Amino acid sequence: MTQQTSPPLRLAILGSGKGSNARALIEAAQQIECHYEPALLISDREDAGILRLGEEFGIAACFFDPGPFKTKFLQEREERLAAFLHTAKIDFIALAGFMRVLHAPLLAAYPQRIINIHPSLLPHFPGLAAWKQAIDAGASESGCTVHLVDDGVDTGGILGQRRVPIFQTDSAETLHARIQEAEHELYPGVVNAFAATLLQKMTLHQQ
Ligand code: GRF
Repeated sequence: MTQQTSPPLRLAILGSGKGSNARALIEAAQQIECHYEPALLISDREDAGILRLGEEFGIAACFFDPGPFKTKFLQEREERLAAFLHTAKIDFIALAGFMRVLHAPLLAAYPQRIINIHPSLLPHFPGLAAWKQAIDAGASESGCTVHLVDDGVDTGGILGQRRVPIFQTDSAETLHARIQEAEHELYPGVVNAFAATLLQKMTLHQQ
């Protein structure tokens, strides 16, 4: 008798920038036996590089107008985004360089199902330009952290971390480049493990 395997969970990736972490997630899903399928790419910026990955990899991609605020969604827009993600049958969400704080509409629609990657060893250096914060503080190491998203700034439960050394010769840019290499190694594995755990919970819930 052959064993029934569950189809991969549908992942939406939200980003505001060039999308190198989104690329790492997509490429890993093509190579490893994967519990997630990148099904939708969304950006709050029309010109974001992450949207171009849609065409390259044949994944649905769209700009989602966030409204007038710089660091959050207009509430009504966030409600609309949550409804859109449900309609697209998205199971969970990975933020990859997404520059807005999420609030109730999305957090309630996807409780404990939104994860983020941050370029420091949290709880150190939350917030913007964490690699520059580490250099300015004279730290000898930094790294990256994958964590659950809550309504704070980089405060949710930690799912995985990777350490990166800081050299005396480092600038903010060279450190960020080294951290990004670590991010691309860390994020796909943590997302895959998260999807596997979520799949188990969903299967138990259905029984
Ligand atoms: C990454 O360094 C990530 O940790 C931070 O924003 C950056 C996004 O880079 N949240 P990219 O768009 O994935 O290349």
